[in-house]
Order: sequence, then C-alpha cells, then structure tokens
Amino acid sequence: MGAWGRSRLWMRCLFQRCQVAGIAHVPALARPALERWDVRPLAAVLTLALTAEQARRAQGKVGCASTQRISLGQVTEFEEASMREVKMEGGGAVLVHRHQGEFFVTSPACAHYGAPLRKGISSAGGRGGPPTVTCPLHDATFDLRTGQVVRGPSVDGIAVYKSEVKNGVLYADIPPELVAGTGKHPKAHELALMFTRVSKCCESTVVA
Ligand code: FES
Repeated sequence: MGAWGRSRLWMRCLFQRCQVAGIAHVPALARPALERWDVRPLAAVLTLALTAEQARRAQGKVGCASTQRISLGQVTEFEEASMREVKMEGGGAVLVHRHQGEFFVTSPACAHYGAPLRKGISSAGGRGGPPTVTCPLHDATFDLRTGQVVRGPSVDGIAVYKSEVKNGVLYADIPPELVAGTGKHPKAHELALMFTRVSKCCESTVVA
C-alpha cells in the first residue's frame, strides 16, 4: 500500500474514533474532502477535536461517549444501609444504595420481569459476600458491585452505573436517554458491551 493509501486508512480510523467519541459533526464535514484533497490539514483538525474531547473527559466534565455525568444529590441525603430511587432532571430514575459508606447506582427495575427493586431488600452482604439487592417479586438477587445475578430466577444481571463522590456530592455516569426517561435500562451484559465499545475511544492515545 502506498503513502496515499496508508493516509486514507489512518484517516478512516481517526473518523471512527471521533464518531465513537460523539464528535460526529467533524468527520461529517471532513468526509467529502477525504476523497479528493490532501488529508493532512483534516487529520490535524480531527486530532485536535479528539484531544479536546478526551481532556474534557479526563477532567470529569463528561462521562464516556455514551454517558452523561449527572449529580444525584448531596451524600448526606442518602441514609446508611438503605436505598432510594432518585428522579433525574429529564424524568428518568436510578436507584442509589448506600452501604458502609460506599454508594452503588443501579437500574431501578429488575432484569427478570421489571419489578421495582426499591420495594425489595438492599443489603450490605455478610460473611464476605458482596452487597446485594433482592427483587420483591421472585427473589432474584443481584451483586451491587457488578450487577451480576447472585441468585435466580433472573438469568440477566442489572445495570450498575459508575459513580463518584466529589465535594460531598454523588455523581453518576448515565446514558442520556435514561436521564431523559426515554430509554430502557440495559441489562448488565448490554451495559458491559456498550462500555467495551466506547472504551476503545476513551483509552486510546491520540495520534500525534
Ligand atoms: S421480576 Fe424480579 S425476580 Fe422476577
């Protein structure tokens, strides 16, 4: 493959990374030019855009490409050894559990038949077991750290969202459609797939 072919291939990779990073408008503007013109100025623009996006993420201003970092409230609003459903600004909801000072943000619905987990039991675990939530309907139990099933009948785990406490405020990285209340909470394996896809962008090094 010649230098021109290698440049085009490299540019296509850069386009994909920009799209995964959620900065699709830049590739959309630049794509027609790729077919005809010198790619170097375009590569510089895309690299700058990608660098800026990754810097914003590193500063915690945004979550990952597919999530939005939102505040769920002051940590003092959450009682120890309990769970509480939190409505987000757009109308969606998540369930916040607090055990031994640690916070877990999960889907509010069971992965089996969607029963409201807030009516179940949130537990710190014991005898070396993980903290869990148990569904009120058929007793499925989920690990609050991973969302995985600890006890059936559910075969799918629940979504557990990345959370962080900063200056006394609890934040979580939630997909925007869930913040807006227009989407359905993914199951644990669907959420893992989503992050595997976007992590290619988040963790990759920017091409110089
Ligand atoms: S709906 Fe939760 S275990 Fe069936």
